[in-house]
Amino acid sequence: MTLDRRNFIKGALAVTMLPQPAHAGADDALPLKTRAARRGIVFGTAVRRSALEKDPDYARAVIRDCAILVPEVEMKWGVIERTRGVRDYAAADWLVTFAAKHGLALRGHTAAWHGNLPPWAKDALRGPDGKAIFDHHVRDLIGHFAGKLSDWDVVNEAIFPGNRLPGGFGNTILYQQFGRSYVIDPFFIARQADPKALLFYNDAKLYYDDSDHAARRRHVLALLEWLKAGEAPLDGLGIQGHLDAGGPKISPDYRAFLKDVAGLGLKITVTELDVNDRLLGPDAAQRDRAVADHAKEFLDITLDERAVGGVLTWGWSDRYTWLNGAHKWARTDGLRNRALPLDEQNRRKPLWHAIAAALDGAPDRRT
Ligand code: G3I
Repeated sequence: MTLDRRNFIKGALAVTMLPQPAHAGADDALPLKTRAARRGIVFGTAVRRSALEKDPDYARAVIRDCAILVPEVEMKWGVIERTRGVRDYAAADWLVTFAAKHGLALRGHTAAWHGNLPPWAKDALRGPDGKAIFDHHVRDLIGHFAGKLSDWDVVNEAIFPGNRLPGGFGNTILYQQFGRSYVIDPFFIARQADPKALLFYNDAKLYYDDSDHAARRRHVLALLEWLKAGEAPLDGLGIQGHLDAGGPKISPDYRAFLKDVAGLGLKITVTELDVNDRLLGPDAAQRDRAVADHAKEFLDITLDERAVGGVLTWGWSDRYTWLNGAHKWARTDGLRNRALPLDEQNRRKPLWHAIAAALDGAPDRRT
C-alpha cells in the first residue's frame, strides 16, 4: 500500500470519528460536496496553508466536505511578490499539491485587485512602467498555475458606487492609473496565459435591499455587459456572499439580477460565503440559528437560478475566520464570530445543516 493510500484511509477513518451534533440523522453522513454534486453544483471553501498544515482535524474536515478550494491569501500579489522582482510561489504551490493529492479542484484568487498589494507596488504602479508591471503580474501569476486551476477570480471588487465615479468604479490606485483597462485587459491576458481555466469577475454586496447593493447590482451588470461587448473572455460572475445576520433583507430584485447575469450567457458562483454575526447578541445558540436561517434564505434564492454552478464558503472553521481580525467588520463585544459551518472545535454548526438543506433543495442542473 502506498503512503498516500495509507494516509487516505487513516484520514477517512478519522473523519467518521469527527464529533456529530446530537440531532444528526442518517443523511448527515453525506458530505456537502456529494449533495452538491447530486445537483450539478461544485462545493468548496477558502483555505490557508498554515491552518491545513498545523491542524489535521481541520484539514480532514475540509477534505471531507469540499470538492474545490480557493486560497484565502496565498495567491495575492502582496504575498507572491513581497519584495520587488522576487516572486515566491511556495505557499500557493503547496496548496496546488495539497489539492491534487486529495483530488480537489483549485480556484485562483485573485489577479487584479487593489487590496493586498505589496507596499513597493504603490509607487511602481504610479511610475511610467506602471501598466507593464501590472500586466506582467497578471500574466506571470496566471501562467504559473496554467493547467492546474479550474477557475480564476481574475478581477476583484472594481465597483464602489459610494466613490461616485462614472460606471460606479472604485477610486482605487488601479482605476486611477489605468482606468477601465485594468478591468478588461486582465481577462485577455488570463485567457492567453491559461486557456483552460474559467475566468470570473468577482464582487461583493449584490443581494440586499438597500441603495448600496442596488447600485452595485446595476453597475456590475453594466460592467459585465461592457466586458461582453468588448469580447473579453469572461466566463462568469463571482458573487462573494459576505452576509450579515440580523442586517438588511434580501432584495426582491436579487432574483432578477441573477437572471440578467445568466441571460448574458455567464456562469455564476458564490465565491466567499460567510455570515457575520456582529449585529446579534451574545447568545451562541441564537446566533447559530440566525446565521443558519439567513444563509438558507440566501442560498435558496441563489441556487434557484440554474446558472449558479458553485458555492464556496470563505473559510471552514470559526477557528480561522477572517472576521475575528482587527477591523470594522469584527464584533465589538470581544466575542468571537461564529460565521462558518464548523465551530472553533471543528464541530458542525446549524450553518452546516442549512447549507446541506439548501443544496438538497436546489434544482438539478444536470437534467
Ligand atoms: O501573513 C501575514 C503575517 O506574516 C503577518 O505577521 C500578519 C501581520 O498583520 O499579516 C499576515 O497577513 C495577513 C493575511 O490576511 C494572512 O492572515 C494580512 O495582514 C491580512 O490583511 C490578510 O487579510 C486577508 C484580506 O483578504 C487581505 O488579503 C484576509 O485574511 C482575507 O480573508 C481577505 O479576503 C477578502 C477577499 O480576498 C476578497 N473579498 C473580501 C475578503 C474579506 O476581506
